[in-house]
Amino acid sequence: MIRSTDHNVPSAQDGDDRPEPAADVVKNGTMRDRAMSQDTEPLGGGAVNDGRVLREGQTVRRPLPANAATLHALLKHVRSRSDVEVPHPLRVEDQTEILTYVEGEVGLSPYAPWVSTRDSLVTVATLLRRFHDATVGWQPPSDAAWSTAFADPAGGSVICHNDVCIENVVFRDGAAAALIDFDFAAPGRRVWDVAMTARYWVPMTDPTLPAAVERGVEDPIERLRTFVDAYGLGRADRRILAGVLLEAEEASRRFVADQAASGSPAFVAMWDAPARARFERKFAWLQANSGAITRRLLN
Ligand SMILES: Nc1ncnc2c1ncn2[C@@H]1O[C@H](COP(=O)(O)OP(=O)(O)OP(=O)(O)O)[C@@H](O)[C@H]1O
Ligand SMILES: [Mg+2]
Repeated sequence: MIRSTDHNVPSAQDGDDRPEPAADVVKNGTMRDRAMSQDTEPLGGGAVNDGRVLREGQTVRRPLPANAATLHALLKHVRSRSDVEVPHPLRVEDQTEILTYVEGEVGLSPYAPWVSTRDSLVTVATLLRRFHDATVGWQPPSDAAWSTAFADPAGGSVICHNDVCIENVVFRDGAAAALIDFDFAAPGRRVWDVAMTARYWVPMTDPTLPAAVERGVEDPIERLRTFVDAYGLGRADRRILAGVLLEAEEASRRFVADQAASGSPAFVAMWDAPARARFERKFAWLQANSGAITRRLLN
Protein backbone atom coordinates (compact mmCIF):
# COMPACT_ATOMS: atom_id res chain seq x y z
CA MET A 1 0.00 0.00 0.00
CA ILE A 2 1.25 3.45 -0.86
CA ARG A 3 -0.69 5.09 1.94
CA SER A 4 0.78 6.09 5.23
CA THR A 5 4.09 4.31 4.92
CA ASP A 6 6.03 7.56 5.42
CA HIS A 7 3.80 8.55 8.28
CA ASN A 8 4.27 5.60 10.62
CA VAL A 9 4.43 6.66 14.23
CA PRO A 10 7.56 5.57 16.09
CA SER A 11 7.10 2.42 18.14
CA ALA A 12 8.99 1.08 21.16
CA GLN A 13 10.87 -1.21 18.76
CA ASP A 14 12.08 1.87 16.85
CA GLY A 15 13.94 2.99 19.96
CA ASP A 16 11.14 5.07 21.42
CA ASP A 17 11.05 4.07 25.06
CA ARG A 18 7.86 5.91 25.98
CA PRO A 19 5.46 3.60 27.78
CA GLU A 20 2.38 2.46 25.92
CA PRO A 21 -0.49 4.84 26.64
CA ALA A 22 -2.91 3.29 29.12
CA ALA A 23 -6.09 1.96 27.53
CA ASP A 24 -8.24 4.64 29.16
CA VAL A 25 -5.93 7.37 27.84
CA VAL A 26 -6.42 6.04 24.33
CA LYS A 27 -10.15 5.67 24.90
CA ASN A 28 -10.67 9.15 26.26
CA GLY A 29 -7.65 10.87 24.79
CA THR A 30 -7.24 13.53 22.18
CA MET A 31 -6.24 12.88 18.56
CA ARG A 32 -2.65 13.52 19.66
CA ASP A 33 -2.82 10.82 22.30
CA ARG A 34 -4.22 8.52 19.69
CA ALA A 35 -1.43 9.21 17.22
CA MET A 36 0.99 7.93 19.86
CA SER A 37 -0.84 4.66 20.22
CA GLN A 38 0.84 1.77 18.39
CA ASP A 39 -2.25 0.59 16.56
CA THR A 40 -3.22 4.09 15.42
CA GLU A 41 -1.71 5.40 12.23
CA PRO A 42 -2.17 8.81 10.59
CA LEU A 43 -3.38 8.40 6.99
CA GLY A 44 -1.77 10.45 4.22
CA GLY A 45 -3.71 12.03 1.37
CA GLY A 46 -5.81 14.66 3.12
CA ALA A 47 -5.38 18.40 2.82
CA VAL A 48 -8.46 19.80 4.54
CA ASN A 49 -8.05 17.46 7.53
CA ASP A 50 -4.31 17.07 7.08
CA GLY A 51 -2.81 14.89 9.85
CA ARG A 52 -6.17 14.48 11.58
CA VAL A 53 -7.43 11.36 9.76
CA LEU A 54 -6.34 8.29 11.68
CA ARG A 55 -6.58 4.59 11.00
CA GLU A 56 -7.32 2.42 14.00
CA GLY A 57 -7.55 -1.22 12.99
CA GLN A 58 -10.43 -1.57 10.57
CA THR A 59 -11.79 1.90 11.40
CA VAL A 60 -10.97 5.47 10.42
CA ARG A 61 -11.35 8.41 12.80
CA ARG A 62 -11.71 11.86 11.26
CA PRO A 63 -12.94 15.30 12.32
CA LEU A 64 -16.74 15.39 12.40
CA PRO A 65 -18.16 17.33 9.44
CA ALA A 66 -20.75 19.93 10.51
CA ASN A 67 -23.38 18.12 8.40
CA ALA A 68 -22.38 14.59 9.46
CA ALA A 69 -26.01 13.50 9.96
CA THR A 70 -26.78 14.23 6.29
CA LEU A 71 -23.58 12.63 5.02
CA HIS A 72 -24.07 9.51 7.15
CA ALA A 73 -27.60 9.15 5.80
CA LEU A 74 -26.17 9.39 2.27
CA LEU A 75 -23.49 6.76 2.96
CA LYS A 76 -26.05 4.39 4.48
CA HIS A 77 -28.38 4.86 1.53
CA VAL A 78 -25.64 4.16 -1.02
CA ARG A 79 -24.48 1.09 0.89
CA SER A 80 -27.95 -0.36 1.24
CA ARG A 81 -29.35 0.43 -2.20
CA SER A 82 -26.38 -0.15 -4.52
CA ASP A 83 -23.16 -2.08 -4.88
CA VAL A 84 -21.10 1.13 -4.80
CA GLU A 85 -18.55 0.80 -2.04
CA VAL A 86 -18.30 3.70 0.42
CA PRO A 87 -17.28 3.74 4.11
CA HIS A 88 -19.90 2.70 6.64
CA PRO A 89 -20.45 5.32 9.36
CA LEU A 90 -20.13 3.41 12.65
CA ARG A 91 -20.53 6.07 15.34
CA VAL A 92 -19.76 9.61 16.46
CA GLU A 93 -17.61 10.40 19.52
CA ASP A 94 -17.49 14.05 20.49
CA GLN A 95 -16.16 15.85 17.42
CA THR A 96 -14.94 12.69 15.69
CA GLU A 97 -16.69 10.42 13.19
CA ILE A 98 -15.75 6.76 13.06
CA LEU A 99 -16.11 5.01 9.71
CA THR A 100 -15.07 1.64 8.37
CA TYR A 101 -11.62 1.47 6.80
CA VAL A 102 -11.75 0.51 3.10
CA GLU A 103 -8.99 -1.93 2.13
CA GLY A 104 -7.00 -1.09 -0.98
CA GLU A 105 -4.60 1.38 -2.48
CA VAL A 106 -4.94 5.17 -2.72
CA GLY A 107 -2.73 7.22 -5.04
CA LEU A 108 -0.69 9.78 -3.14
CA SER A 109 1.55 12.48 -4.61
CA PRO A 110 4.01 11.97 -6.29
CA TYR A 111 1.63 9.76 -8.23
CA ALA A 112 2.71 6.29 -9.35
CA PRO A 113 2.14 5.43 -13.03
CA TRP A 114 -0.97 3.31 -12.25
CA VAL A 115 -2.86 6.50 -11.28
CA SER A 116 -2.77 7.73 -14.88
CA THR A 117 -3.51 4.56 -16.82
CA ARG A 118 -6.51 4.29 -19.14
CA ASP A 119 -7.97 1.61 -16.86
CA SER A 120 -7.84 3.94 -13.86
CA LEU A 121 -9.54 6.71 -15.86
CA VAL A 122 -12.27 4.39 -17.12
CA THR A 123 -13.00 2.70 -13.80
CA VAL A 124 -13.19 6.04 -11.96
CA ALA A 125 -15.73 7.19 -14.57
CA THR A 126 -17.86 4.06 -14.19
CA LEU A 127 -17.67 4.24 -10.37
CA LEU A 128 -18.81 7.88 -10.48
CA ARG A 129 -21.68 6.90 -12.79
CA ARG A 130 -22.81 4.12 -10.45
CA PHE A 131 -22.62 6.48 -7.48
CA HIS A 132 -24.79 9.10 -9.21
CA ASP A 133 -27.27 6.43 -10.31
CA ALA A 134 -27.50 5.21 -6.69
CA THR A 135 -28.62 8.67 -5.54
CA VAL A 136 -31.42 9.10 -8.10
CA GLY A 137 -34.73 9.35 -6.26
CA TRP A 138 -33.11 9.35 -2.81
CA GLN A 139 -34.97 11.56 -0.34
CA PRO A 140 -32.38 13.24 1.90
CA PRO A 141 -33.44 13.88 5.52
CA SER A 142 -35.87 16.82 5.76
CA ASP A 143 -33.27 18.86 7.66
CA ALA A 144 -30.43 17.94 5.28
CA ALA A 145 -27.49 20.36 5.15
CA TRP A 146 -24.82 20.38 2.45
CA SER A 147 -21.45 22.00 1.93
CA THR A 148 -21.58 24.93 -0.47
CA ALA A 149 -17.82 24.97 -1.16
CA PHE A 150 -17.89 22.96 -4.41
CA ALA A 151 -21.63 22.65 -4.90
CA ASP A 152 -23.07 22.91 -8.40
CA PRO A 153 -24.37 26.52 -8.65
CA ALA A 154 -27.22 25.23 -10.83
CA GLY A 155 -28.32 22.53 -8.35
CA GLY A 156 -29.61 19.24 -9.72
CA SER A 157 -31.23 15.90 -9.22
CA VAL A 158 -28.31 13.64 -8.24
CA ILE A 159 -25.90 13.91 -5.33
CA CYS A 160 -22.48 15.02 -6.55
CA HIS A 161 -19.41 13.92 -4.57
CA ASN A 162 -17.62 17.10 -5.73
CA ASP A 163 -14.16 16.00 -4.57
CA VAL A 164 -13.23 12.83 -6.44
CA CYS A 165 -9.55 13.76 -6.38
CA ILE A 166 -6.85 11.10 -6.69
CA GLU A 167 -6.63 10.75 -2.89
CA ASN A 168 -10.36 10.10 -2.46
CA VAL A 169 -10.62 6.87 -4.50
CA VAL A 170 -9.59 3.43 -3.23
CA PHE A 171 -8.32 0.98 -5.85
CA ARG A 172 -8.14 -2.80 -5.82
CA ASP A 173 -6.72 -4.99 -8.58
CA GLY A 174 -6.04 -1.95 -10.76
CA ALA A 175 -9.64 -0.73 -10.71
CA ALA A 176 -11.40 2.04 -8.80
CA ALA A 177 -13.32 0.19 -6.07
CA ALA A 178 -14.59 2.75 -3.54
CA LEU A 179 -15.21 6.45 -3.00
CA ILE A 180 -14.29 8.07 0.32
CA ASP A 181 -14.41 11.56 1.89
CA PHE A 182 -17.88 12.90 1.10
CA ASP A 183 -17.46 16.17 3.03
CA PHE A 184 -18.14 18.32 -0.07
CA ALA A 185 -21.05 16.30 -1.44
CA ALA A 186 -24.15 18.25 -2.46
CA PRO A 187 -27.06 18.01 -4.88
CA GLY A 188 -26.10 18.88 -8.43
CA ARG A 189 -25.99 17.86 -12.07
CA ARG A 190 -24.09 14.86 -13.35
CA VAL A 191 -22.15 17.10 -15.72
CA TRP A 192 -20.86 19.17 -12.78
CA ASP A 193 -19.36 16.14 -11.00
CA VAL A 194 -17.99 14.83 -14.31
CA ALA A 195 -16.19 18.16 -14.72
CA MET A 196 -14.99 18.19 -11.09
CA THR A 197 -13.68 14.63 -11.37
CA ALA A 198 -12.11 15.01 -14.84
CA ARG A 199 -10.09 17.96 -13.52
CA TYR A 200 -8.13 15.52 -11.39
CA TRP A 201 -8.17 12.25 -13.28
CA VAL A 202 -7.64 13.40 -16.89
CA PRO A 203 -6.16 15.90 -15.67
CA MET A 204 -7.76 18.89 -17.44
CA THR A 205 -4.77 21.15 -17.76
CA ASP A 206 -2.20 22.50 -20.19
CA PRO A 207 -0.22 19.36 -21.10
CA THR A 208 3.04 21.31 -20.80
CA LEU A 209 2.41 22.02 -17.11
CA PRO A 210 4.09 19.77 -14.51
CA ALA A 211 0.75 18.31 -13.34
CA ALA A 212 0.36 16.68 -16.77
CA VAL A 213 4.03 16.13 -17.65
CA GLU A 214 4.77 14.32 -14.38
CA ARG A 215 1.89 11.94 -15.10
CA GLY A 216 2.91 11.36 -18.72
CA VAL A 217 -0.37 12.82 -19.99
CA GLU A 218 0.07 14.31 -23.46
CA ASP A 219 -3.47 14.55 -24.78
CA PRO A 220 -5.97 15.67 -22.14
CA ILE A 221 -8.77 16.19 -24.67
CA GLU A 222 -8.54 12.59 -25.86
CA ARG A 223 -8.51 11.38 -22.25
CA LEU A 224 -11.54 13.53 -21.47
CA ARG A 225 -13.36 11.82 -24.34
CA THR A 226 -12.41 8.42 -22.88
CA PHE A 227 -13.68 9.51 -19.45
CA VAL A 228 -16.95 10.92 -20.79
CA ASP A 229 -17.61 7.83 -22.93
CA ALA A 230 -16.95 5.51 -19.97
CA TYR A 231 -19.34 7.57 -17.82
CA GLY A 232 -21.94 7.52 -20.59
CA LEU A 233 -22.58 11.27 -20.49
CA GLY A 234 -25.51 12.39 -22.63
CA ARG A 235 -25.19 14.62 -25.67
CA ALA A 236 -26.76 17.71 -24.10
CA ASP A 237 -24.24 17.52 -21.25
CA ARG A 238 -21.37 17.03 -23.70
CA ARG A 239 -22.34 20.31 -25.37
CA ILE A 240 -21.94 22.27 -22.14
CA LEU A 241 -19.09 20.39 -20.47
CA ALA A 242 -16.32 22.76 -21.67
CA GLY A 243 -18.09 25.69 -20.02
CA VAL A 244 -18.79 23.69 -16.86
CA LEU A 245 -15.09 22.79 -16.67
CA LEU A 246 -14.28 26.50 -16.53
CA GLU A 247 -16.86 27.06 -13.78
CA ALA A 248 -15.54 24.09 -11.81
CA GLU A 249 -11.97 25.36 -12.17
CA GLU A 250 -13.05 28.75 -10.89
CA ALA A 251 -14.83 27.17 -7.89
CA SER A 252 -11.67 25.26 -7.05
CA ARG A 253 -9.47 28.35 -7.40
CA ARG A 254 -11.78 30.29 -5.09
CA PHE A 255 -11.72 27.51 -2.51
CA VAL A 256 -7.92 27.27 -2.45
CA ALA A 257 -7.64 31.09 -2.20
CA ASP A 258 -10.13 31.21 0.69
CA GLN A 259 -8.44 28.36 2.56
CA ALA A 260 -5.02 29.98 2.10
CA ALA A 261 -6.39 33.34 3.27
CA SER A 262 -7.70 31.68 6.42
CA GLY A 263 -4.19 30.31 7.05
CA SER A 264 -4.89 26.61 6.46
CA PRO A 265 -1.31 25.25 6.23
CA ALA A 266 -1.83 22.71 3.43
CA PHE A 267 -3.38 25.40 1.25
CA VAL A 268 -0.95 28.26 1.85
CA ALA A 269 1.64 26.45 -0.30
CA MET A 270 -1.00 25.78 -2.97
CA TRP A 271 -1.52 29.53 -3.31
CA ASP A 272 1.99 30.93 -3.52
CA ALA A 273 2.99 32.99 -6.58
CA PRO A 274 4.09 30.02 -8.78
CA ALA A 275 0.93 28.10 -7.85
CA ARG A 276 -1.25 31.09 -8.74
CA ALA A 277 0.57 31.38 -12.08
CA ARG A 278 -0.12 27.69 -12.77
CA PHE A 279 -3.81 28.23 -12.01
CA GLU A 280 -3.83 31.10 -14.53
CA ARG A 281 -2.18 28.99 -17.22
CA LYS A 282 -4.55 26.13 -16.59
CA PHE A 283 -7.53 28.44 -16.86
CA ALA A 284 -6.17 30.07 -20.04
CA TRP A 285 -5.60 26.62 -21.59
CA LEU A 286 -9.16 25.58 -20.82
CA GLN A 287 -10.52 28.79 -22.36
CA ALA A 288 -8.35 28.49 -25.46
CA ASN A 289 -9.34 24.84 -25.96
CA SER A 290 -13.04 24.92 -25.13
CA GLY A 291 -14.03 24.75 -28.82
CA ALA A 292 -11.69 21.81 -29.43
CA ILE A 293 -13.03 20.07 -26.30
CA THR A 294 -16.65 20.41 -27.42
CA ARG A 295 -15.88 19.19 -30.96
CA ARG A 296 -14.06 16.11 -29.65
CA LEU A 297 -16.89 15.28 -27.21
CA LEU A 298 -19.57 15.46 -29.90
CA ASN A 299 -17.86 13.80 -32.85
N1 LIG B 1 -12.63 5.07 5.15
C1 LIG B 1 -11.38 5.06 4.67
N2 LIG B 1 -10.84 3.91 4.24
C2 LIG B 1 -9.57 3.88 3.79
N3 LIG B 1 -8.76 4.95 3.73
C3 LIG B 1 -9.24 6.14 4.14
C4 LIG B 1 -10.57 6.26 4.61
N4 LIG B 1 -10.78 7.55 4.94
C5 LIG B 1 -9.63 8.21 4.67
N5 LIG B 1 -8.69 7.36 4.18
C6 LIG B 1 -7.30 7.70 3.81
O1 LIG B 1 -6.95 8.87 4.48
C7 LIG B 1 -6.67 9.92 3.56
C8 LIG B 1 -7.17 11.23 4.11
O2 LIG B 1 -8.56 11.12 4.43
P1 LIG B 1 -9.62 12.16 3.95
O3 LIG B 1 -9.71 12.13 2.47
O4 LIG B 1 -10.86 11.87 4.70
O5 LIG B 1 -8.94 13.53 4.44
P2 LIG B 1 -9.30 15.03 4.09
O6 LIG B 1 -8.24 15.89 4.68
O7 LIG B 1 -10.71 15.28 4.47
O8 LIG B 1 -9.16 15.04 2.49
P3 LIG B 1 -9.43 16.24 1.45
O9 LIG B 1 -8.28 17.15 1.51
O10 LIG B 1 -9.56 15.48 0.17
O11 LIG B 1 -10.74 16.89 1.86
C9 LIG B 1 -7.32 9.52 2.25
O12 LIG B 1 -6.68 10.08 1.12
C10 LIG B 1 -7.14 8.00 2.31
O13 LIG B 1 -5.84 7.66 1.90
MG1 LIG C 1 -9.67 13.43 1.02
